[in-house]
Amino acid sequence: MNKKEIDDFLVQTIDVVGKNLRETINNQKEVDTKNGRNDLVTNYDKNTEKYIVSQIKEHYPGAQIISEEGFGDAPSNMDGLVFLVDPIDGTMNYVKRKSDFASMIGVYLDGEPYVGAIIDVMNNNIFHGGKGIGVRKNTELLKTPEDKHLSDGLVNLASWLVLSNSYNAIEIVKKSNGLRIYGSAGIIFSHILEGKEIVYMSRLAPWDLAAGRVLIETLGMSVCRVDEAPLNMLKSQVVIVSTSNAKNEVLDTVKSAKKL
Ligand code: IPD
Ligand code: CA
Ligand code: CA
Repeated sequence: MNKKEIDDFLVQTIDVVGKNLRETINNQKEVDTKNGRNDLVTNYDKNTEKYIVSQIKEHYPGAQIISEEGFGDAPSNMDGLVFLVDPIDGTMNYVKRKSDFASMIGVYLDGEPYVGAIIDVMNNNIFHGGKGIGVRKNTELLKTPEDKHLSDGLVNLASWLVLSNSYNAIEIVKKSNGLRIYGSAGIIFSHILEGKEIVYMSRLAPWDLAAGRVLIETLGMSVCRVDEAPLNMLKSQVVIVSTSNAKNEVLDTVKSAKKL
């Protein structure tokens, strides 16, 4: 299996998705809720996922597919080649703001991060790559951002973490240069890849995390669970995505709350 070939496939597929979502951005959408009034799904989420799944099945018929809207295979293991698909990440932004949303595909081989692609749809930037081929923003090779400390960068924490002060979230924000909240895991991953922010903390489903984890780890930055257990790509989990220095400082801050 050729990693570069899969990278090209991801870029081509997600480029088509991006063009279609930009061209139809002002169209009337059918909007439904899933688990509550702020968990949205549209006909564009569903149709985009159907398109991506059909492309994967055509090009990689032996692969397993985990996808948010249920058109994949719902596999019970990570054996072989597994594609994890989030057709529109940040559906609330897609509906309300018509910007700041992404589409993401992560590929794992026997459970290990392999290749990933994230498109920031409205800015038409594709972040893609994997270990051995590097991470690119479109065609430009990205360098690893400076290994900044928590005190020297902006942090992204999911709003529920801050509102409930879970995991000592407020203290983490206080130790940083400030809090940013965007409402799309994919957009935040793209910012961390470019060194614009240095921490992301949220509960992420497998399709929220898959592509970003590949790219972040390829650049030598860190993705870990807040409880420091091994990552499980079949489950939702609270994760810390960060520079190496900030990782230890965030984990220490989480643990210091438990001792109070
Ligand atoms: C959501 C966004 C959001 C994150 C949620 C995700 P969706 O994805 O990435 O930023 O906080 O956990 O579910 O549902 O719009 O694909
Ligand atoms: Ca989604
Ligand atoms: Ca998502």
